[in-house]
Amino acid sequence: MTARIIDGKALSDSIKADVAQRVEALRGRGIVPGLAVVLVGGDPASQVYVRNKAAACEKAGLHSQVIRLDADITQQQLLDVVQQLNQDPAVHGILVQLPLPKHLDSAQVIEAIAADKDVDGFHVSNAGLLMTGRPLFQPCTPYGIMKMLESEGVDLWGAEAVVVGASNIVGKPMAMLMLAKGATVTLCNSKTRDLGAQTRRADVLVVATGKPDMITGDMIKPGAVVIDVGINRKADGKLTGDVEFASASKVAGAITPVPGGVGPMTIAMLLVNTIEAAERAAQ
Ligand code: GUN
Repeated sequence: MTARIIDGKALSDSIKADVAQRVEALRGRGIVPGLAVVLVGGDPASQVYVRNKAAACEKAGLHSQVIRLDADITQQQLLDVVQQLNQDPAVHGILVQLPLPKHLDSAQVIEAIAADKDVDGFHVSNAGLLMTGRPLFQPCTPYGIMKMLESEGVDLWGAEAVVVGASNIVGKPMAMLMLAKGATVTLCNSKTRDLGAQTRRADVLVVATGKPDMITGDMIKPGAVVIDVGINRKADGKLTGDVEFASASKVAGAITPVPGGVGPMTIAMLLVNTIEAAERAAQ
């Protein structure tokens, strides 16, 4: 069997085109939706992500502002920047790029973001709303994955869904969103014994571990839908996911590529969350 490739790039393009229309409508009412991205320090991967997010905003007609801060900024200085953005009516969405330098307390910084501008959906009140089935903002990566599953016609009702990686950014919200759609969800972490025994049960397998090629074809149920969140750079400079594509694509029914799978969807959903924030503010 050769898996169908789930084209995240194509789906993200159609979502971004829809956002662009909504931006037009708001602009027609004199409102320019705005996203502020805060980048602390010079982490090379974060710089690329932030550049891509800003470029996607501009392309869809949203205003984006990137606030670059020195790596040695104090916690209080960073909190002051967030506070100013909270109060700025031209800023509808605020995103603080993670990870922050080690001396900073990311949890406290995220809690300082106004919950109705928290387009990442990381604030505790947004995490709580998601957990209780009343999300205000869905975290962009899991949200994008739900859109991909929907566009692939995957029925989660009663399905076995297995998530590998239990981060606040991806794994935990992913589990909640699939649970809300009726899946039986198993959330694995780095301590899970016999990971393959868990992953082989999955009708839908989402992998977000940051460990290159960790899931191999023998760990996948034939016909499963496999979503690879990982973006890892190999020694030869090429990108690879957390799933070994060559072996996995022989077993899976459908699989996301890296690049061109989850990555573009994450950015598209950031735009969706930002336009939603701006539309709510305009009500
Ligand atoms: N770092 C890696 N992914 C993300 C994300 O989705 N949002 C933010 N703010 N930082 C990240």
